[in-house]
Amino acid sequence: MSPPKFADFSRIVFFTGAGLSSESGIPTYRGSGGIWKEYNYEDYACQRAFERDPEKVWDFHDKRRAAVAACEPNDGHRLIAVIQRAKPGTTIITQNIDGLHARAGGVDVIELHGSLWRVRCDRERTIRDDTSVPMASRKCTCGAYLRPDIVWFEDALSVDNLRRAERALERADLIVSIGTSGVVYPAADLPRIAVQAGAVSVEINLEDTPVSNLYQHRLRGKASDLLKSMA
Ligand code: OAD
Repeated sequence: MSPPKFADFSRIVFFTGAGLSSESGIPTYRGSGGIWKEYNYEDYACQRAFERDPEKVWDFHDKRRAAVAACEPNDGHRLIAVIQRAKPGTTIITQNIDGLHARAGGVDVIELHGSLWRVRCDRERTIRDDTSVPMASRKCTCGAYLRPDIVWFEDALSVDNLRRAERALERADLIVSIGTSGVVYPAADLPRIAVQAGAVSVEINLEDTPVSNLYQHRLRGKASDLLKSMA
């Protein structure tokens, strides 16, 4: 079965994960070389860790900000942005926190798991962009520690983001899942909304995942190559 072509669709949803950014040099989370192999998330990526030792958590995130800032979007990010420009009904939903979709020209990106490049003050209930590397200040002007505006383990997803994602998925005519292991919920289950609404479905990954059965087309290989094969 040859892969579907973007030209035949107008309401495309790209649902992306760390595999898309791996070709930019950003490590994935799972598998060999994965971030959660080297770091225990309970010490670096949950609210409890932050409350216990904010400096340690910030050291980890500052290091990640520096690593991501040194990377560039790849052909996959760029192709997705080109398709979005050509087809305004296109939506990008990502689990990535690296900001590479926007740097490649993607717009209105739904960042399900937040962003490395936003910080928030939970005391003042404020959120702002911060792209400084290293972080100019880890504290808010009120004196409280800022925290990355990231959905850490055990955090809830933004209801607003979930609604936006669901609306796009309900009306999609093509859903393309790219480079995600499909093990983190509720994100992993979102593409099902598009499938149940009748969208043509494609999974792009190096290997099978626990959610592969959901997809009509299972394309195996590098994300950028396989996206090009659909163009
Ligand atoms: P994972 O690291 O769990 O999975 C990455 C997936 O990408 C794997 O299935 C790989 O096989 C695949 N992959 C790697 N390189 C690829 C390539 N060049 N082309 C195609 N596929 C490739 O990453 P996610 O599924 O994104 O949470 O992880 C989900 C969430 O878990 C993340 O958003 C993160 C993490 O904890 C936060 O950052 C809050």
